[in-house]
Amino acid sequence: MPGLVIVGAQWGDEGKGKVVDLIAEQADAVIRFQGGNNAGHTIVRDGETFKFHLVPSGILYPGKTCVIGNGVVVDPRVLTEEIEGLRRRGVDLSGLRISANAHLIMPYHLLLDHAGEAKLGKREIGTTKRGIGPCYADKAARLGIRVQDLLDEKILKQKIAAAIEPKRQSLREFVKDPRLDLHTMTEDYLALGHRLERHIADTPPIAWKALDDDRLVVFEGAQGTLLDIDHGTYPFVTSSNPVAGSACVGAGVGPTAIDEVWGITKAYCTRVGAGPFPTELHEETGEHLRQAGGEFGTTTGRPRRCGWLDLVALRYAVKVSGLTGLVVTKLDVLTGIDPLCVAVRYGGPEGASFDTFPYHQSVLHRARGEYVELPGWHEDITGARSLEELPDNARAYLSFVSEQLAIPVVMVGNGPSREEIIWSEAALALRPAAA
Ligand code: IMP
Repeated sequence: MPGLVIVGAQWGDEGKGKVVDLIAEQADAVIRFQGGNNAGHTIVRDGETFKFHLVPSGILYPGKTCVIGNGVVVDPRVLTEEIEGLRRRGVDLSGLRISANAHLIMPYHLLLDHAGEAKLGKREIGTTKRGIGPCYADKAARLGIRVQDLLDEKILKQKIAAAIEPKRQSLREFVKDPRLDLHTMTEDYLALGHRLERHIADTPPIAWKALDDDRLVVFEGAQGTLLDIDHGTYPFVTSSNPVAGSACVGAGVGPTAIDEVWGITKAYCTRVGAGPFPTELHEETGEHLRQAGGEFGTTTGRPRRCGWLDLVALRYAVKVSGLTGLVVTKLDVLTGIDPLCVAVRYGGPEGASFDTFPYHQSVLHRARGEYVELPGWHEDITGARSLEELPDNARAYLSFVSEQLAIPVVMVGNGPSREEIIWSEAALALRPAAA
């Protein structure tokens, strides 16, 4: 399986980083294909916690080729800080490559993100305020600044001037802000470019070569299906496409390069920011999931909204991303909750019932999960290393999900550390020798 795409099947934060980290050992390259430092991946290795925002999760393997693809938006200040932080902890970054065509988050994107949310007031999206939306907007408007522009002072200055011009009106309250001074901005970004220069590359050929040699390439998604700008709960979405098809565009390969698509889902459901969430729990069980699962954002520290597993949304993710396998993470967080509820359809106003994910936002806002109850388990499951070692009820829970979605469960996460994982037969084919 040379081309494996890993995507979030819910609203992000499903634990993609850990899965990519585990599979990366066997891969020639790990390529991030969308999003920016709105993402946060946590990896616990040998008791040490690593938090990544832009650097692909395979970086902990010395010399591993880890690509920030053209579809990613890069805040060069955040990236240099991340690189330097990792370097100080002894991480080898010689394999890091940054696409010369990736777009840059500029200081005005951050200001616009803040101002845009403030203007929306109560109707805010709840963005991470990292400038993601304004940066992708400039990319589409052909006013973006790209990584390669960092290496040419004249072009950089010209492009910044052209990009700021149409924003004068929206940026007028920041007119005296030193971050918006053209000269200072150019100098700062040139300096950042200098620090990143050794990593900047033409990245699609890295994927082509590895795929031609029949080597494993992992395409690492950020956020999740329901935050997709086309297929998610618009407008409460991010500004890129976290669905699997976007791996091709954001890394520079064709659809025939993709052999497998694994969707990552928690054993329950979470969401950060505003927008519909049909299985949200506002009572004790929701708070229990938040505490037991440590459900606070890696990037912003915000408490995550928590709810029951939503099979209507997951069935949708299976279709939209063409999932061939499911990775269920954080199964251990459900231990002790009995019975467990799983949404198999939604109920709506006036007795309406939905087996499929409603496309209409007014319907979706009023949809509520309709549940089947499954028996829970009370045994500590963190030590299980095979499905057979799980209690019957935990196995039955996984089987129910797999049958409902008609795809196999390929891996199961049962604790935060990298050892706390169950590999299925399909995943064993990729299993690192050391795992
Ligand atoms: P933005 O991507 O910062 O523009 O935020 C848009 C929406 O996506 C907000 O609801 C964010 O909370 C959400 N979001 C963005 N990145 C992530 C992520 O990595 N995990 C979970 N939610 C995210």
